[in-house]
Amino acid sequence: MDELLTKENLDYRGRAREVAEKYVRPIAAELDREARYPWEIVERLKEYQLMGEWIPKEYGGGGGGVLNLCIIVEELSRACGGVGVAYAVNALGSFPIIFGGTEDQKQRWLPDIAKGQRLISFGLSEPTAGSDAASLKTRAERNGAFYVLNGDKKWNTNGGAAEIYTIFCVTNPERGTRGISAIVAEKGMPGFEIGRKEDLMGIRCVSVHNLHFRNCRIPEGNLLGGKEGLGFAHAMQTLDFARPGVAAQAVGLAQGALELALEYARGREQFGQAIASFQGLQWMLADMATQVEAARQLVYYSARLLDAGAKNVSKIAAMAKVFATDTAMKVTTDAVQIFGGYGYCKDYPIEKYMRDAKITQIYEGTNQIQRLVIARNLIKESASMEPKLAEMKEPAAVS
Ligand code: CAA
Repeated sequence: MDELLTKENLDYRGRAREVAEKYVRPIAAELDREARYPWEIVERLKEYQLMGEWIPKEYGGGGGGVLNLCIIVEELSRACGGVGVAYAVNALGSFPIIFGGTEDQKQRWLPDIAKGQRLISFGLSEPTAGSDAASLKTRAERNGAFYVLNGDKKWNTNGGAAEIYTIFCVTNPERGTRGISAIVAEKGMPGFEIGRKEDLMGIRCVSVHNLHFRNCRIPEGNLLGGKEGLGFAHAMQTLDFARPGVAAQAVGLAQGALELALEYARGREQFGQAIASFQGLQWMLADMATQVEAARQLVYYSARLLDAGAKNVSKIAAMAKVFATDTAMKVTTDAVQIFGGYGYCKDYPIEKYMRDAKITQIYEGTNQIQRLVIARNLIKESASMEPKLAEMKEPAAVS
């Protein structure tokens, strides 16, 4: 497997693994228990020059692309899924600036994010706009040199920790998705309030908040791309690039759970022998390992395509997300099963993997939405192919 990775990939993996094993794993349970943001890990990520890996070099980032991002997220998530997403969500928040910002906007925000000096988050979802992202209601009305923002955002991952927020809002209600724009809000702007922190089932160390905008005046220079109506396309493009990152979080969680299950199965004795010696368990472990490897290869493949500048990447990004996150749920649940009663208690870290895995099937588009994206693309591709059925049909067939 390592033979297929470049020297650069291995270097990123080595640094991320060192941060994960030396600094994340020892405090993962404490972060989870206290639902405390992993600020000390952010400091380590800066020290190991991992923050801003995905940001182009000309804006102070590592220029490492999506595959390296996935490799880093996988390694961090192998030790703690919460830390994995706390890191990855900075890519999600900054992709709209990278794809849609003007040169001035990129120079203004990206270098700070690249250095890890300021964290960023992505504000798309609202209390009544989740899967149906286009139904968002947050309104931005032009008033002189400002936009006046009113509305509420929900499930804002990194909400309490970030200082820069990419906010999707309606600038023209008559134009549907083409009336949606992205505006950058900054912490401390009058009328911008960070609301309630969610009490989560898993990934408890990231701060997920509601955001409220009440007549918040944002300078027109913060409208991404300097033009209204580009926000929805930028949000969708961002999700295409970010979904392999969630998938990588899932691969890391599944890999981490598998390793713990293997260690436990080798040490736990019943009926006078290690439970790893029972064929029933061996087949479970073999399936888990096979599924993790298949998920990893799909994630890396999708990331390589994105890095290569492939077109029409929505389908492959959605496939990676759906396959890897369903795998993580299955593998972490099987790992808890292998631990038996001990797996259901907090004595061992395994139940946290299962709790952390659950959200990967939900955020950045539920897995039902991923299947919708895949199916829509399949049907479109099929419609553009040469028809084959007519000439292959048996003459006697009725339709
Ligand atoms: N790239 C560029 N443009 C795209 C696009 C893409 N991948 N997908 C769609 N568009 C464009 C379309 O071309 C269309 O443009 P025109 O009007 O110019 O033709 C426009 O966007 C509307 O497209 P659709 O008609 O396909 O839009 P839809 O309303 O049917 O919605 C959807 C599509 C796929 C269901 C979308 O709403 C979606 O992805 N929903 C899930 C939302 C989501 O993932 N939310 C996650 C929030 S972030 C989060 O979870 C982060 C976190 O906490 C960590």
